[in-house]
Amino acid sequence: MIYLDQAATSFPKPGEVVEAVAHTLRNIPGSPGRSAHKGALAASRVLFEARERVAAFIGAEDSSEVIFTSGATEALNIVLKGFLKSGDTVVATSMEHNAVARTLKALRQQGVNVLYAPCDQEGFLILEELEKIIRTENPKLLCINLVSNVTGTIQPLAEIYPLKGENTYLLVDAAQAAGHLPLEVANSAIDFLAFSGHKGLFGPPGVGVLYLRRELASQVSPLKEGGTGSRSESLFQPEFLPDRFESGTPNLPGIAGLAAGIDFVEKIGLTRLHRHETALADIFLEKIRDHPRIKIYGPKDRVRATAIVSVNVEGLPPSEVARRLDIEFDVAVRPGLHCAPLAHQTIGTYPQGTVRFSFGYFNRLHEAEKAAEALIKIAS
Ligand SMILES: Cc1ncc(COP(=O)(O)O)c(C=O)c1O
Repeated sequence: MIYLDQAATSFPKPGEVVEAVAHTLRNIPGSPGRSAHKGALAASRVLFEARERVAAFIGAEDSSEVIFTSGATEALNIVLKGFLKSGDTVVATSMEHNAVARTLKALRQQGVNVLYAPCDQEGFLILEELEKIIRTENPKLLCINLVSNVTGTIQPLAEIYPLKGENTYLLVDAAQAAGHLPLEVANSAIDFLAFSGHKGLFGPPGVGVLYLRRELASQVSPLKEGGTGSRSESLFQPEFLPDRFESGTPNLPGIAGLAAGIDFVEKIGLTRLHRHETALADIFLEKIRDHPRIKIYGPKDRVRATAIVSVNVEGLPPSEVARRLDIEFDVAVRPGLHCAPLAHQTIGTYPQGTVRFSFGYFNRLHEAEKAAEALIKIAS
């Protein structure tokens, strides 16, 4: 199979990741922070080292600012539901994933003022509009989808920072950025950063990260309360980090796998990873660009995009194109709305959606070429 659904979840996983997950399952007989026997101490060490690993990777000053979650969805829910109260205003982009958009819809019903800053047809924020909204609405939170899972559009974060007022905090959804672009929180305007472990970071599904600036932790209510292994005498949730947001037995195999995935990313190097993936996207685009029945969406200047390409074939629904790619050519892609109806409204592909090809480090040149040839055959 030619697997070009890397934006959904990366495949294959590096051997080191599989090994780290298996090692934890085979050799670590305990739950971190829950006991003092040798197995539990070994589990605590795995958890601590993984937290340090993630903190170093994103440039967090203190690893307790790294919260392990079940994915980007949970990380985003913690911030949106825990930080925003009735009467607060939040501004998000019109390219958001449903992990944000559905959460905001629910919050709107609870009295949060939800606004969307418009993006253009390539998915880029219209910065003048954003500035105007921030100036007139003075939002408590600005939520930016750094890389679109539909078009690969990279928002210009450095240009957005100066537009953010002093009273506005910044949440970045980096689900499609982690492992593709550098992420640096310490000297940035980012207050909250959410990402998945199983996409560009090559970890297993079911693990993700929330980074939150230490000073803001007390202003965010936990999404869940429960056992943390700490302060068990108290019926109140601990206030200190990371325990405030990490109730329940942690997903240690997943977390160990994520740490191994980050090691892998650093071994290859972000620049090399990104260059390889985008080179494949470019070759694919080059081959299909002039076909009269294929329409390509997203940034024309591909330097401003990751290796995610959305297309449509005139006269064929995306699901039919994806079905034929799968059955006739053994090419795996994702059709439809990609859990991002707002993004499709923005780029003009709602409600039918697009066919999304997403390339990864383990894809090879001939796979990008074969996928392009298959698409051309279907379109011709
Ligand atoms: C932009 C974006 N945000 C959030 C998510 C949610 O990530 P997860 O499913 O890992 O929780 C995704 C997943 O596709 C995504 O692409």
